[in-house]
Amino acid sequence: MFLKYSENPNKIIETKIKKNIYSFLTENETNLDQKTVDSFGEEWDKFNSFTDEEIKNAGDQYFDIVNSAILNKESVVLDLGCGSGRWTKYVADKVSIVEAVDPSEAVFSAVNLTQNNPNVRVTQASVSNIPFADNSFDFIICLGVLHHIPDTQQALIDLCKKLKPNGHILLYLYYSLDNRGAFYNFIFKSSTILRKGISKLPHSPKKIICDIIAFIVYMPLVVIVRFLFSIFGKKNWIKKIPLSYYSDKSVNIIRNDALDRFGTPLEQRFSKLEISVMLNNAGISNNKFSSNEPYWHVLGKKL
Ligand SMILES: C[S@@+](CC[C@H](N)C(=O)[O-])C[C@H]1O[C@@H](n2cnc3c(N)ncnc32)[C@H](O)[C@@H]1O
Repeated sequence: MFLKYSENPNKIIETKIKKNIYSFLTENETNLDQKTVDSFGEEWDKFNSFTDEEIKNAGDQYFDIVNSAILNKESVVLDLGCGSGRWTKYVADKVSIVEAVDPSEAVFSAVNLTQNNPNVRVTQASVSNIPFADNSFDFIICLGVLHHIPDTQQALIDLCKKLKPNGHILLYLYYSLDNRGAFYNFIFKSSTILRKGISKLPHSPKKIICDIIAFIVYMPLVVIVRFLFSIFGKKNWIKKIPLSYYSDKSVNIIRNDALDRFGTPLEQRFSKLEISVMLNNAGISNNKFSSNEPYWHVLGKKL
């Protein structure tokens, strides 16, 4: 049922739930920031259980530009940088198979989360060494991954080679606030200074500080936005309040994202134009950007 690996694994890791993980990681991975990958391994150890409702709620926002003509029971899917496996789980029942790939210890969480999905296989590998033949996949999911690696353009080129002609990629990269004003940019620059300090901390204090940020920065803004929505409806001016995106998210997701945002050593940001250029360089066209948050998520098609 699953695709044939294009090379032999370097290691086979047995898991408690009898689903082995094949590892293709090598000592000298290119285009991988080890500190960032280690940090994600620790993060997913903490945030590894999402309810079906949490996954559906957040997944519907990323997949708003994908329809069943593009993603369906025929689709062979790659989820690159699968993390906890939440998007793999989101699509598993709608597609033929999902190959979920991640270089970090998050693979153990992904195996756990998808243990009741027989059409999912989790593999440990990096984007520069994806162990499947080129032109293998109908659909690639790559959400929140390639802004955390050293060379995003090269990663996109390597990744899109795995897509069949006419296949699609759903990509999410942190936006460079290209659609925001000076106030947002100021807040962002301040938070970046904080991130650079916090991400260097050992795991435990980092987790605690990110939780504090979640509760004293994210949550109050979320409560204000929820209150304003309840009085005025979902008006655009309310949506401009920083972190309004989290108004319908659970505390679990907010804590996870705060850790993602402030605990990760390497983070890059891109404008819509930069993303389009990188996708075109990787042979992807017909790029359709969602006008909804999270920014920017885009659906592209391989020529
Ligand atoms: C922010 S998490 C996103 C996880 C998942 N896509 C989600 O949205 O829930 C980023 C993921 O990218 C993975 N990652 C980091 N460097 C990578 C690389 N070189 N190749 C593939 N994945 C990588 C990390 O291990 C981590 O699980």
